[in-house]
Amino acid sequence: MWTDTRVTRALRLDAPIIQGPFGSGLSAVDLVVAVSESGGLGSFGVHHLDGAGIRAVAASIRARTQRTFALNLWIPLGDSDDPQLTAEQWRSACELLRPYFDELRVPLPARPVRFGPHYEEQVETVLELTPPVFSFVFGVPSAGVLDRCRSAGIATLGAATTADEAKLLADAGVDMIVATGFEAGGHRVSFLREPEDCLTGTLALIPQVVDAVKVPVIAAGGMADGRGIAAALVAGAQAAQIGTAFLACEESNATPLHRAKLFSADARRTTLTRAFTGRLARSVHNEFIDAMRGKERILASYPVQAWLTAQLKSAALAAGRADVISLWSGQGAPLLKHHRARELFGFLVADAQRVLA
Ligand SMILES: Cc1cc2nc3c(=O)[nH]c(=O)nc-3n(C[C@H](O)[C@H](O)[C@H](O)COP(=O)(O)O)c2cc1C
Repeated sequence: MWTDTRVTRALRLDAPIIQGPFGSGLSAVDLVVAVSESGGLGSFGVHHLDGAGIRAVAASIRARTQRTFALNLWIPLGDSDDPQLTAEQWRSACELLRPYFDELRVPLPARPVRFGPHYEEQVETVLELTPPVFSFVFGVPSAGVLDRCRSAGIATLGAATTADEAKLLADAGVDMIVATGFEAGGHRVSFLREPEDCLTGTLALIPQVVDAVKVPVIAAGGMADGRGIAAALVAGAQAAQIGTAFLACEESNATPLHRAKLFSADARRTTLTRAFTGRLARSVHNEFIDAMRGKERILASYPVQAWLTAQLKSAALAAGRADVISLWSGQGAPLLKHHRARELFGFLVADAQRVLA
């Protein structure tokens, strides 16, 4: 039976389908519960939350499902946990975006004490909560963290965009590798080389990662129906992680403007851009991306650019301005049909079954 894989056995799932986690507040408890209760793995991205926020999310999920779920974090890359920038760098980062602040009538913000929560506090909280699964991107957790996961029975899932990254994760003792192809929505989660040099597509990446590691491999990027899932399984993956199709469902925390874009003809054109966060990520193309093109050298790096553009988001949404906000999307968006997570999950299982039969 195609649903019986190393991943479904290890994580006690009914089908090898993982709802990918979303950072920046786009994950939702409703979505995690719908997917985990359907027999897949629901995941919540807690990268934007501090310890108290992560505790509240885990409690809400546990109150509504006994089934397997994942909490997801970003491993600090370079000085991203506490970026050091000069007053001059801060000023020029603000100046670049000044026309947007002025146009949307948002005052230029004062420099915050920090640009996001402390990773050490986040990871300690995750360990304390012992979720069934801890997944992460942008690197490898410390040996101490991975040891504590192993002792606590927390399964670990690490993302790789190249076979070298996969090998590093597996050698460190990570339980499963999420092989993330260039088609995927959101950030390119490379950590050994610049993401621009790690643009392998999902179907080429899966067998390379399968050959490089002994642990189970999960495919991510570009899948939105049974054909994609079947192709990934045939290529050697033990499960499929799907992001964009679940992000488009009403249970996610995506805004109605973003969701409408995912179902529109505009989603046929997605682009990898550093414009919104300072890190390379895939979004539906819009005017902001064009305006920042060629300015990559003067854009603030992550997380400063992410923090600055986030200050514009509510005013842009209130004004219905899809031309200035991030519209994260994978290349599979034109295949989307489902608006409810349980229906999408049922379709994915039935369609994979049909193709594999
Ligand atoms: C809006 C958005 C945010 C994401 N945030 C995260 C994240 O915080 N952590 C993570 O591991 N993956 C993140 N991802 C990747 C997804 O979990 C998943 O691997 C990816 O979307 C799969 O490709 P697809 O979009 O083509 O289905 C994000 C994806 C999107 C679209």
